[in-house]
Amino acid sequence: MADTKRPFNFSAGPAILPQEVLARAAEAVTALKLDGHSANSPDIGLSLLEISHRGAPYQAVHEGAIELAHRVLGIPEDTHQILLLPGGASMQFVMVPANLSRPGTPASFVDTGAWSTKAIAEARHFGEVRVLGSSADSKFDHIPTVDWADADGSSFLHITTNNTIYGTEYESLPDSPEGVPLVIDASSHIGSRPMSLERAALGYAGAQKNLGCSGLCLVFIRRDLLDDPGAPPAPKFLRYATHAKANSLFNTPNSFGVLVLKLVLEWVEAQGGVAAMERLNAEKSTLLYTTLDNSSLFEAHACAGHRSRMTIPFTLGGAPEGERDALTARFLAEANDEGFQGLKGHRSVGGCRASMYNAFPVEGARALTSFMQEFERRA
Ligand SMILES: Cc1ncc(COP(=O)(O)O)c(C=O)c1O
Repeated sequence: MADTKRPFNFSAGPAILPQEVLARAAEAVTALKLDGHSANSPDIGLSLLEISHRGAPYQAVHEGAIELAHRVLGIPEDTHQILLLPGGASMQFVMVPANLSRPGTPASFVDTGAWSTKAIAEARHFGEVRVLGSSADSKFDHIPTVDWADADGSSFLHITTNNTIYGTEYESLPDSPEGVPLVIDASSHIGSRPMSLERAALGYAGAQKNLGCSGLCLVFIRRDLLDDPGAPPAPKFLRYATHAKANSLFNTPNSFGVLVLKLVLEWVEAQGGVAAMERLNAEKSTLLYTTLDNSSLFEAHACAGHRSRMTIPFTLGGAPEGERDALTARFLAEANDEGFQGLKGHRSVGGCRASMYNAFPVEGARALTSFMQEFERRA
């Protein structure tokens, strides 16, 4: 293990955070530093949790997080505004159609599993939905091929770019037809590699995986969509324009979540940015996929060519059917005893899932693959 006390944390989210981020966040809970909690500034003698979000110390945190998100994630400031919103990514399943749907016009979606299925269900409250493709028939083990031109005339086109539960990932963002805003749910892989996010008209990511802690959602939206006269009437709180005008301070923000976001982005930048994350994530995921593909016991759920580098579900599919459940339970129990935590798969796939977000160490991937090989020899 990385150290004797901490297990390797494969949790799908809330997920592993860098140790130094945890230490600095803990420090800010005791006494926030004046300059947005930058390393050498003096502290203000009060906790981040007990000060106004209108005062200068919190403003430095807030502004710092937004500035870093633009720079580190590659979201251009001239075309897109970043919003830090409550309600997690699920709130965006509602806010997206509340802002972008148009009467008499369908919204297009690709159904790649549970989270896109939920987004589709919410969008149906606002109008017609066109599902361009789905991989439901094969337990969402691949990204379905769709003709993007079928989204022509839609109010928006929505895709889930990394499917946390099924372990599939879009390699690149599609070309949406002219005039159709592309909307992406990038919750479980944002910041894991360079991604041309500027190609999305709107994107969102719940922070509790690669960006910090739960209850905060990072949203980026093309500025022209904020004052679109065709936007449907919506309650004030649900309108992106409301939060944009108030620079995400329309109501009391999740100040702790915003601080952790800032600290995480500083950490990513110090490691060499998203390009460095990509190299590490490729190394970790290659270790695991190679082990899975060479095994006659373990099997990756997602098809080659569609596989996520962040969230990797696998089963003990090579075991005789009658023994599979018991062997899976034994594997998870032994793994847990060895310090590999959070490996139990989502109930809809079963088996196991290794989520290896940015902060997950390469030695954790090495240790897990050795353990799997050793388990297979004994099984
Ligand atoms: C791809 C994706 N979208 C949406 C969500 C929902 O996020 P939240 O719990 O922040 O609402 C998740 C949560 O895991 C997710 O993985």
